[in-house]
Amino acid sequence: MSDEGFDWAAEAAHLVANAQNDAEFYDIMAAELVRDTDDIVIDFGCGGAGMAVAMRRRSRKINPSLRVVGLDAHHEVYAEAAADHPDISFAVASFEDSSDEIRRRAGGAADLIWARGSLHHADDEQSALRTLADVLKSGGTLAVAEGGTTVAHLPDHLGIGEPGIHHRLAAAMHQNYRRLMADATPMPYGWPIGLRNAGLIRIHTRNVLFDKPAPLEGADMDHVLRKYAKQVEWAEDFLEPDDLSAWRQLLNPEDPAWLGARDDLFWLAALSVHMGVKPTELPPLRMRTAPTNRSPVSAEPGAFGHYNHAYAAGSRPSPPRRPAYEADPPTGKPQRHRRHGDVSTHRRGR
Ligand SMILES: C[S@@+](CC[C@H](N)C(=O)[O-])C[C@H]1O[C@@H](n2cnc3c(N)ncnc32)[C@H](O)[C@@H]1O
Repeated sequence: MSDEGFDWAAEAAHLVANAQNDAEFYDIMAAELVRDTDDIVIDFGCGGAGMAVAMRRRSRKINPSLRVVGLDAHHEVYAEAAADHPDISFAVASFEDSSDEIRRRAGGAADLIWARGSLHHADDEQSALRTLADVLKSGGTLAVAEGGTTVAHLPDHLGIGEPGIHHRLAAAMHQNYRRLMADATPMPYGWPIGLRNAGLIRIHTRNVLFDKPAPLEGADMDHVLRKYAKQVEWAEDFLEPDDLSAWRQLLNPEDPAWLGARDDLFWLAALSVHMGVKPTELPPLRMRTAPTNRSPVSAEPGAFGHYNHAYAAGSRPSPPRRPAYEADPPTGKPQRHRRHGDVSTHRRGR
């Protein structure tokens, strides 16, 4: 695999903490995506298995017999979740495996595949999307949580180092990532086109707002401090010496500039989830029995084009299920947040 520069086993504790920290986001998405009629749902590239655990939580309420599967190329990352959640099936699988192999490890074709922050590690993103589309049942959904805005936690000027130090850290992270993934084939277009090229329909994107005003406290503050420490470690080679030394001060609890002592850190980001549905397989053609002057395939095209008009009434393939998406036409326009609310909307008093 082309991400061999990453030491995922060493990241396991970090991924578990991320999974727990984002539990609210995962619960929102699981409530939208998991259906009571589903048989198999997969969290692919699951890491600490935040979504698999949320899907299990959701299924306890609506579909206790649901098979929830966590798949990842590295078993170390989900070891803790597997020990804590014996009712989730975990297995090693990668985006480079064949769809037959992935189905075998998952226990069958999937109604829903969720992949957050993992597909960009695939050797070939487009080919991975095609494989995942193939693993889906007809009418199943592929949900790819990738991109959105960069997460912001800091004001532009901290009074130490040059303003914008976090923007330069983000740029250094990208450089490091490209170095580690030098052999990979990223798509020269966005995820929605990738999903369409994989044969999916009803492509649309949902932006979920993370909004935690300052001051951050407790687990949120710990998460931010741990995240910056990780990022500085990863991106060190690409940071200017002045920035590196400022970061060392900012992350040192003994230093007066320690970020953990500030009350102006916040959490603001929009995370994009791109979704597509596998078309329902069309049943065999059954011609109208009543004589007609027109050939069925030359009937006037309707919303579904000529093809569906070739079917007798009553045998039209059912549209892909997943009513939650019906209200979100695939316009590509920014989604409203009204229906789903923010991951955190409450304001804290000082
Ligand atoms: C950044 S982590 C994201 C983990 C989790 N989905 C989350 O959002 O916290 C990327 C995950 O993708 C997994 N991964 C990397 N390359 C992979 C591949 N080719 N196939 C499957 N999983 C892969 C890693 O082991 C890691 O757990």
